[in-house]
Amino acid sequence: MLLSTTLISLSWFSVVYAGSANFGDACSVSNNRLQIGTYQFYTDCNSETYCASNGTCAHRGCRKDDFPFGYPQDSDNLPSKCAKGQFCPDEMDACLNVLPVGSACQMNRDDQCEGPPNYKDLLDTTNRGLNVNGSVCLTNVCMWANVTENEDCVVQNTAYIGYTASGGEFIDIVSRGNCRVGLYCDAQSLQCLQEKSIGDSCDADKECSTWNCLSSGVCGTDQALDRHISSWVYAIVGIGIVVGMFGTLIGLFILHLKQRAAERERRLQYWREQNAFHQNLSQMREAARTSIMSIPGIGNSTRSTVYGGDNSDDSHTPMLQSISGPQRTSGLRNHVSDDGNIVDDYDENFITHPTVQSRKDDGRF
Ligand SMILES: *[C@@H]1O[C@H](CO)[C@@H](O)[C@H](O)[C@H]1NC(C)=O
Ligand SMILES: *[C@@H]1O[C@H](CO)[C@@H](O)[C@H](O)[C@H]1NC(C)=O
Ligand SMILES: *[C@@H]1O[C@H](CO)[C@@H](O)[C@H](O)[C@H]1NC(C)=O
Repeated sequence: MLLSTTLISLSWFSVVYAGSANFGDACSVSNNRLQIGTYQFYTDCNSETYCASNGTCAHRGCRKDDFPFGYPQDSDNLPSKCAKGQFCPDEMDACLNVLPVGSACQMNRDDQCEGPPNYKDLLDTTNRGLNVNGSVCLTNVCMWANVTENEDCVVQNTAYIGYTASGGEFIDIVSRGNCRVGLYCDAQSLQCLQEKSIGDSCDADKECSTWNCLSSGVCGTDQALDRHISSWVYAIVGIGIVVGMFGTLIGLFILHLKQRAAERERRLQYWREQNAFHQNLSQMREAARTSIMSIPGIGNSTRSTVYGGDNSDDSHTPMLQSISGPQRTSGLRNHVSDDGNIVDDYDENFITHPTVQSRKDDGRF
């Protein structure tokens, strides 16, 4: 937490305190310094030049960052980075060879120091900036971070000035030592001690393996790590998805089933109405025929004359003929189905209803 705030304030300082002399302008090498509180390198020259020994600002000869501060985006004249075994000093004038152990180095520039032979065992893989390739620059001297537990170590405490969002200042002390990774250099005893685990009491972040000493004085969880979600959360989410999917499917299925039942009931109702209607109609026809036949003087012979050529005894009105078809020899014949409903041939031919058909066909109902 404190670290990120410090980094933000560092970048603010860069903007405020950058030198303003352009290429070719006069500058003084004696003005080169580290800023108070932020320890950022300052020079009279602007961010693309350095103060050469002849007292003028010259173009920089190297860079240490992929995206060096002060250059425009997509700048074409970025100086190149230094090769392996070399470093770019704070001045960024030219690449220099890495320095052997005991040499003078610039503050916090562990990369300026040559790595130890067993650098693979000593290098910091925790991404906490404990050392670079197993070497560390403490009090401007190159060392190797090779001190084992309970051995004497060198410690450098640096007080950075941090700035809060409201403009207030606070001090952030960063303590670095030359202990092996997994140990820290205790400032009182000046000996390397084992880092503490979560829950142990602590005085500073460096004492905790999680790099997080809570204000309550115990080591807390690592704030830089990803949050890991326990597997039961995945299980519950998975079950929830499956239950949601099948719940939706079953719900829709039941809904559809109900709709189909209602629709079937509606059609059955319609069929019954139609059936009753046709029954009434045929009764009316029967009654009409009976009454016509009963009128004296109107017999079969008369009707044969009226409908010329049709001599069959069981002829009908044209309407009925067209409906019943030519093979019909009688009028609408009604018969009673098993359930007592009256079913006529008209319905058999023109209204197809599965329920009704099955009733008549196999008589199960
Ligand atoms: C100063 O030194 C730089 C780098 O060596 C060089 O490029 C520049 O021409 C020199 N300027 C003068 C005025 O000699
Ligand atoms: C680390 O140090 C060793 C020994 O000096 C050197 O051979 C190696 O190239 C260095 N590795 C890097 C990445 O600088
Ligand atoms: C540990 O590093 C120091 C330099 O910091 C070196 O002088 C010393 O020989 C190293 N010790 C071992 C055991 O490698």
